[in-house]
Amino acid sequence: MLSIEQLKHLTQSVGVIPTLVIDDVHDAIPLAQALSDGGLSVLEITLRTPVALQAIQQIRQALPALTIGAGTVCDAGAAAAARDAGAQFLVSPGYSTALGGYCRAHQLLLMPGVATASEVMNALADGYDFLKAFPAAVIGGTRWLQAMHGPFPAAQFCATGGITTKEVADYLSQANVLCVGGSWMTPRDAVQEKNWTQITALARAAHEAVL
Ligand code: 3PG
Repeated sequence: MLSIEQLKHLTQSVGVIPTLVIDDVHDAIPLAQALSDGGLSVLEITLRTPVALQAIQQIRQALPALTIGAGTVCDAGAAAAARDAGAQFLVSPGYSTALGGYCRAHQLLLMPGVATASEVMNALADGYDFLKAFPAAVIGGTRWLQAMHGPFPAAQFCATGGITTKEVADYLSQANVLCVGGSWMTPRDAVQEKNWTQITALARAAHEAVL
């Protein structure tokens, strides 16, 4: 696992983290390569498909220069399995003290999801200050992030959920946003058609929106 400071630094430098749902494990390496060719080197593989852990393993082995996190980590079992598969950080859609406590006890790097002030308070109280604002577009987008900055100046966010390239710069200009995440760079039909050129173009557009 990375340290929290390494993760903040890496995600801030890249600006955009693709969140991937991989149905066919044969797509894992070409998909990661396509995103990397577009300039995106930090990826979140969601644990929403039966091949997700295998995909993490394969990408870690084949493309060691990339940074690979596991997403949709909702409990201790998923956290341990993701760690064993080689995930370098973990992301959860929400926060529970059980998951937070397990990750702290086992030195697993977790970016917990939050959508309310109470969840931010709980996560901060448990030592988590790099949080996934999810689902960002639904909870109020940049206005939600601005509203959290006053009471919680220590909280830093990865805004994810419903974001597209045209909103990237606006999110990243918020004082408390280090990066954004999303699936818009990997449309399911493009993955199914193995249209890696299209995915690289979408990744490049997202990368350029950061600069
Ligand atoms: C997720 O973890 O599901 C991500 O937030 C993806 O969100 P998006 O599909 O709306 O980009």
